[in-house]
Amino acid sequence: MSAIPSKKITFKIFRFNSETDYLPTYIDYVVDVTHENVVLDILTTIKNEMDGSLSYRRSCRHGICGICSVKVNGKAILACKQNVLQMTETYGDTLTIEPLSIKRAMKDLIIDKEDFWVKHAAVKPFLDADVEDAPENEHFVSPAQVDQLLEADYCIQCGACHYSCPSLEISDAFMGPAAFAAAYRFQADVRDDQTNERLNLVNQEESGIWDCVKCMECAEVCPKDVNPIEKITKLHNMVFEAGIAKNNIATRHAVYFKDSIKKHGQLNEAGLVIYSEKGYGMYKHLKVGMQMIAKGKAGINPYSVPKSDKMDEIAKLVKISSTSKF
Ligand code: SF4
Ligand code: SF4
Ligand code: FES
Repeated sequence: MSAIPSKKITFKIFRFNSETDYLPTYIDYVVDVTHENVVLDILTTIKNEMDGSLSYRRSCRHGICGICSVKVNGKAILACKQNVLQMTETYGDTLTIEPLSIKRAMKDLIIDKEDFWVKHAAVKPFLDADVEDAPENEHFVSPAQVDQLLEADYCIQCGACHYSCPSLEISDAFMGPAAFAAAYRFQADVRDDQTNERLNLVNQEESGIWDCVKCMECAEVCPKDVNPIEKITKLHNMVFEAGIAKNNIATRHAVYFKDSIKKHGQLNEAGLVIYSEKGYGMYKHLKVGMQMIAKGKAGINPYSVPKSDKMDEIAKLVKISSTSKF
């Protein structure tokens, strides 16, 4: 029987010991890779056959425990799920493997995930309900009600989204996409008591859902297709529906977006900036505004926006798609 064809791939692996090193180094390992190999196979081969000092985390090897996530060429992946040769199609025959967060590296690919767990715990990721000690009946949940969770319960707390989020990178206060996905999972559960306590937790400025910049990176990297940005948007709506939205730049942005579509059938970009920023805040966008006017993308009068032809249809769409009390 012929051997499975293989290809030599160079892996540049981040090496660092927080107890003894000041700076990290990258060591190259050349490994024969077949079409069957996932990233975890390579780490295991290196550790078992080339360099026993390499440290990384793994447990289930089946994409369930969420512990093996690392970054390859800057992209967060689950090492036990990500095929290596597929990655070489994008990145070529040299792959750089790093921990999820370099600034939290403890030993090689192992990081200190404490901030992740603290933020996850802070959103009350559990059912908040008064249940009788010996209830006579089960609390029946229909398939349609389960569907409302939008598979948020598939999260395996791997941290791939959390450590890929640019908002979190610039603000340690931001709770991050995984915490918000967990908050949505329980907020959307019909068995939860549906108080506003959890919503208030995620509705804070700086730490909460309004500091998400909607870059979609969390959805891009999630190995379980949890799509955290979708849950963040749902939480935005829940906050409006609960009547607890605060008047800030992000909520004004949402309000104007809807109003503009309702009024003009399209987004008035200049009006959006003026309404969202209020006061002097809008002056920081003057340069871009002038460039837009020069390129014909905005008019001199920011409120002069042509109306779309089918305003009746647009009004109906806005009505049926809007569940929020703006
Ligand atoms: S969409 Fe929001 S939460 Fe997701 S990675 Fe981007 S900034 Fe972070
Ligand atoms: S939402 Fe996805 S990427 Fe984020 S922690 Fe959960 S499983 Fe990992
Ligand atoms: S080892 Fe458990 S998810 Fe990869």
